[in-house]
Amino acid sequence: MGMHWVRDAGACSGVYVLEDGRTIIDAGNMYGLIDELQDLGPLDRLERILLTHCHFDHVGGMEEIFQVVSPDVHVHPVTREYLRLLRSPFPEFFDALEGDGKLKLIQDGDMIPGSRPLRVIHAPGHTAGDTCFFEETSGALFSGDAVLPYRLNLGPALSKPDETCGGRMKDKVHSLKRLVSLPVRHLFPGHGEPVFHKGSDHVKLSLYSLYQSLHEDRPELAWVTMGRDLLDLGQLAEARQCWSKSAEISPEASEVKGLLEAIEAAASQAAH
Ligand SMILES: [Fe+2]
Ligand SMILES: [Fe+2]
Repeated sequence: MGMHWVRDAGACSGVYVLEDGRTIIDAGNMYGLIDELQDLGPLDRLERILLTHCHFDHVGGMEEIFQVVSPDVHVHPVTREYLRLLRSPFPEFFDALEGDGKLKLIQDGDMIPGSRPLRVIHAPGHTAGDTCFFEETSGALFSGDAVLPYRLNLGPALSKPDETCGGRMKDKVHSLKRLVSLPVRHLFPGHGEPVFHKGSDHVKLSLYSLYQSLHEDRPELAWVTMGRDLLDLGQLAEARQCWSKSAEISPEASEVKGLLEAIEAAASQAAH
């Protein structure tokens, strides 16, 4: 898909420019973003900004953009509420947008129109309003901070729940399980380099590292839980790999044996 990426830097998220500059995802927090956008073409093409969540590193650049153009801003209602917590003048800025009818509330399952429509996925966990955008034909997931890519030597980057913005571990597990079921080829995160192949592997690694953090004293259970999830998705070979990892750690654990039984039951069902 034709797309431009304005790289993230420090306390500024990456910004994705789509649809020949008609749509951007997140606004970063970088003075000078407007120059970068202008280099791509006239700014009055910008029709909409999609926000992934309320954090300042993703929305701070809005003010600069609105000094020049006034696109619609698409935001989940929960994010809309948490935007009130930002430091002044941002709460007033968003109130003014709302007053002007520029704030468009989006819900899980909505489609953002365009030559390649984007499906809205509410994926709370990092914050309560986390929103991802999925482009089905190319398998591109714009994940904000809900999923960050695995980096060699650094391992999976897990964005922590921010409780002040309603982030909760329990929601994060649920959301990542949903995202794991998507056929993600490209992962376009709010921080870190875009991933162009096997994006779903990065979603799986995020979920696995979450399970690791939840089962620190019994690491085999992280593999068992991951294996159960993959089994639910019908990914038998990968579930079996999880089982063998868990069996290396604790072959006698009842959960480990239970996973193997479940895999074998599913395999024999698939054979009939
Ligand atoms: Fe961020
Ligand atoms: Fe964030």
